[in-house]
Amino acid sequence: MALHIGDTAPDFTAETTEGTISFHDWKGDSWAVLFSHPKDFTPVCTTELGYTAKLKDDFDARGVKVIGLSVDSLDDHVAWSADIADTQGTAPNFPMIADEDRTVADLYDMIHPKANDTLTVRSVFVIGPDNAIKASITYPASTGRNFDEILRLIDSLQLTAEHKVATPVNWTAGDDVIIVPALSDEEAAERFPDGWTTVRPYLRVVPQPGA
Ligand code: BEZ
Repeated sequence: MALHIGDTAPDFTAETTEGTISFHDWKGDSWAVLFSHPKDFTPVCTTELGYTAKLKDDFDARGVKVIGLSVDSLDDHVAWSADIADTQGTAPNFPMIADEDRTVADLYDMIHPKANDTLTVRSVFVIGPDNAIKASITYPASTGRNFDEILRLIDSLQLTAEHKVATPVNWTAGDDVIIVPALSDEEAAERFPDGWTTVRPYLRVVPQPGA
């Protein structure tokens, strides 16, 4: 069954390149990104995993643990990691799940049979400290993901979890944000005492809190 925003991210125990992991225990009360790739020793996946490894400091700064997955074996993950280091300049520095029996792929609906009967698509789940799914995206095997966009998404999720704001189109951290429509002007005045710009009654723009 498909997982929706707000659902609890299913727990599992799996073999990974960093040993056996019980997902909820490993994650603790951090944020997490769980992402699948279709297959080891393939070109697009190689670039994605190398780039994600380069972003380690950015994920750490946001308190986000990263974990990858494919239905390949642990031996393949280990051998491929050396290739990723050679070709991309950085080896994966996060656990990669060897989901050979597809337990996790099935739990997270990562195999889309009309795309491929056996391989995972490019799924991404962003999971909050409360283990709830905060966002998910799905790309086909032919299209590499933009992991800078995943960081941008996390920035928005973390900001909007703390403040009664939403982030507009193409927002990046530090840009102005929007006061959520559910907040009355009276309530907004308490939260944003320095004021805001009313473009329309439903479109109230305010500097990013804390920026
Ligand atoms: C790739 O990562 O390049 C890839 C993986 C599976 C199917 C097609 C492309």
